[in-house]
Amino acid sequence: MAGRVSPFVPTPWRVVREALRVADVKPGELVCDLGCGDGRFLVAAARDFGARAVGVEIRRDLVEKALFNAFKSRVAEFVKVLHGDILSMKLPKADVVTLYQLTSLNRLLAPKLSCQLPRGARVVSVDFKIPGWIPVKKFTVLDEESTGRWYDLYLYVVGLSDGLCRASGRGAEEPQRVRLRSPRRSFLLAREHR
Ligand SMILES: C[S@@+](CC[C@H](N)C(=O)[O-])C[C@H]1O[C@@H](n2cnc3c(N)ncnc32)[C@H](O)[C@@H]1O
Repeated sequence: MAGRVSPFVPTPWRVVREALRVADVKPGELVCDLGCGDGRFLVAAARDFGARAVGVEIRRDLVEKALFNAFKSRVAEFVKVLHGDILSMKLPKADVVTLYQLTSLNRLLAPKLSCQLPRGARVVSVDFKIPGWIPVKKFTVLDEESTGRWYDLYLYVVGLSDGLCRASGRGAEEPQRVRLRSPRRSFLLAREHR
């Protein structure tokens, strides 16, 4: 299990809203929080951005809490929560994915994100980078209300930030690493996207 499970540490609400804002979530889009904890990303996506939201969570008590919070916030009809390990299940075809996981888990998740998410999907990672991916933008957000600290938000775009080939026709669990372009060119493309 080493590196496969991160602890539950909720993202402050201000940072949640900012992460969804930088991902440019639009009404009707599907937002997926991988490791959704108490469901705050799902609630904010549905309530404040008019999105549909799906969470995946390994802890059953948190699955129940997330569902209860969606119900309490009157967005239950727009929110789904799946119980399971994000590394073993097929990812939903989300427009936006949010992540607050340790680098070790992000590393294991990277090929899956690359192979299973649609090209153009936006991925926002709180505090921890996705190893091997190039962010199109990095933001810092101060949470004055609760923790009093700065949070990093890394915005990635599938097909632009990742270097994995998804057109190889191989199975989703067997990504093939190919060099599409030089790292320098990737960096320039990422910058152009800002
Ligand atoms: C740092 S918390 C973030 C919670 C929520 N996304 C937020 O930002 O408030 C990480 C969450 O991911 C869950 N988690 C950790 N490893 C997981 C895995 N392999 N599969 C599914 N959920 C996982 C934890 O139980 C925890 O709720």
